[in-house]
Amino acid sequence: MATPDVFGPGTSERFYSKTINSPRLNPSSKETQESLKRSFARYLASDHGSSAIGKLFDPNKHLAYEEPKYIHTMQDIGFPATKGVSPVAVSEPFHLFSEDAVNIMRAEILDPEVQEKYSYTSDIAPKQLRGYAPKHGKFIFEAWKHPETLSIISKIAGIDLVPVMDYEIGHINMSIPGEKKEYDNSVMNSEEDEEAIVGWHRDSYPFVCVLMMSDTNGMVGGETALRTGTGEIKKVRGPQKGCAVVLQGRYIDHQALRAFGGQERITMVTSFRPRSPGLRDDTVLTTVRPISNLSDLYGQTIEYQLENAEARIRQMLKNVRDSMKAGATDVSSIKSFLDFEIRTMTHLNNEIVDESLVQKGHLAEVCKDAASAKRNKVE
Ligand SMILES: [Fe+2]
Repeated sequence: MATPDVFGPGTSERFYSKTINSPRLNPSSKETQESLKRSFARYLASDHGSSAIGKLFDPNKHLAYEEPKYIHTMQDIGFPATKGVSPVAVSEPFHLFSEDAVNIMRAEILDPEVQEKYSYTSDIAPKQLRGYAPKHGKFIFEAWKHPETLSIISKIAGIDLVPVMDYEIGHINMSIPGEKKEYDNSVMNSEEDEEAIVGWHRDSYPFVCVLMMSDTNGMVGGETALRTGTGEIKKVRGPQKGCAVVLQGRYIDHQALRAFGGQERITMVTSFRPRSPGLRDDTVLTTVRPISNLSDLYGQTIEYQLENAEARIRQMLKNVRDSMKAGATDVSSIKSFLDFEIRTMTHLNNEIVDESLVQKGHLAEVCKDAASAKRNKVE
């Protein structure tokens, strides 16, 4: 595990994370399938396993998982393995959902009420849909909360993940079909962002899974561009319909490049954080505050952060009581717990910006650093 756990060794959290998340890259297909089966069995056996299973999403019918051909590590792209919360940087596209599943998802997001009530626009992305699930996206909600889906995403990410919060389930980026333009392969040699569907940025959340919801036949471009630790630009192939990419987007500058061919390009981005409340969570709200219903965003952020704090406090209380019974108070573990809580709560406090100071749709300023080619090579 790349990130130290505040609880220290010997807790069930640590055991769980180790068993499900051994970040072995690119094993054989048979090994992967067997390993996934074991991971999933453990996931179901854990107390988090059964709560999200609903009636609409059937993994046997709606998952069409095929392992990614390659998973690029942080070190592969010139970053230290410990820069983020996992040694994994980005996967090659892999098949995740069946055609049938994606078509159900499309019907949910193309609903006129969703298009009307949940649309956002910003200065780095022309059209996005946010916050419509679960009310108007029940199938989408179940699909991303299902333990079998989470087991797959976690396995690829090399760390046990859960959706950051319900509000971030099924964020949609849409590019509107325009005139057919000729594909210019030199686009990445310039710093022009005109060709990007979403400009240079770092995500607010540790991991994302980007799902392609459009038919990509005849589409050219549509890759994800990453800025590596040496400042070079690396493109990862765009996924086809039903396929997805997992990216540790909080720690890597990236942009979604425009697709050429004149057809629609709809992607669904679901964000994830470490499941363990004892692991570092570098979540910020910078890239989402200006395009969110702040009441929902702040409410759900505080809710999950307090749940995590509650779990840590209960665990620490148990440790302190046990150590008092044994007549030995562990000062260094108390101090490390308090340091972690102070850091976490201070960080959270900074993210809850007064509503009057949030400028709707203004993201270019936030993403200025990411857009600069002069950004420090390795941070
Ligand atoms: Fe992103």
